Amino acid sequence: MPRLPWPLPAVLAWALAWGLFRALLGAGMAPALALLMASAAGALASVLGSTLWRRALIALGFPMASLLSGAAQWPAWAWLLPLALLALVYPLNAWRDAPLFPTPADALRGLATQAPLPAGARVLDAGCGLGHGLQALRWMYPQAEVHGVEWSWPLRLVCALRCPWARVRQGDMWRTDWRPYALVYLFQRPESMARAAAKAEAELAPGAWLVSLEFETTALRPVARLQGADGRPVWLYQAPFRKA
Ligand SMILES: C[S@@+](CC[C@H](N)C(=O)[O-])C[C@H]1O[C@@H](n2cnc3c(N)ncnc32)[C@H](O)[C@@H]1O
Repeated sequence: MPRLPWPLPAVLAWALAWGLFRALLGAGMAPALALLMASAAGALASVLGSTLWRRALIALGFPMASLLSGAAQWPAWAWLLPLALLALVYPLNAWRDAPLFPTPADALRGLATQAPLPAGARVLDAGCGLGHGLQALRWMYPQAEVHGVEWSWPLRLVCALRCPWARVRQGDMWRTDWRPYALVYLFQRPESMARAAAKAEAELAPGAWLVSLEFETTALRPVARLQGADGRPVWLYQAPFRKA
């Protein structure tokens, strides 16, 4: 999607929220509900912003303006709205980077044969979402220490509940140190793969693996390409990496 120059995304999102608010009031909706719906629309439109701050500004613009202008009578609970919107913007920020598609249950079948790891080896699902990739990794490597890092707090919380045997934390996978890991697993998007290859080259120890579901990196030559049970390819790269 072409990126709109700033502040056009904000202006568009606020106009959308105001338009919706007016239309809902016109249709006879209770003002508090109209406020909620229009604010939610503004928060969804925050994906148009290119940084987290801009997204927060887009999401908060309409509710704050409606308050300050007196256009809407805020109910008591409405003071929680900005917090709720920020909580929404946060996961949207990560979804924009890689939408939440989970790893299918047996997508990694055959991985442990191609990339055997010693018991206790550390594996990382970088961007672990709700934990489906962690489960597939555990199935392949029952004796490994499975770690996950996830940008979105709500997803991280649900993931930790679903995978109590894994070490799941909130964080940015690009700022996470990959050096302790014998295998780093990714299910991201094609645009992320060049950056992932560069990070793997810089940080993974000799013998360690970079494994990507579906998306390959053209920067490195794969050691193997598996065909997961659902037909998606699984790309395996091993350090020291060979250039493509
Ligand atoms: C396609 S989903 C894959 C989820 C999981 N790995 C799986 O295979 O089931 C990508 C996940 O990466 C997360 N993500 C995107 N960018 C991230 C970043 N910079 N740091 C941490 N997580 C990120 C998203 O929030 C999303 O949950």
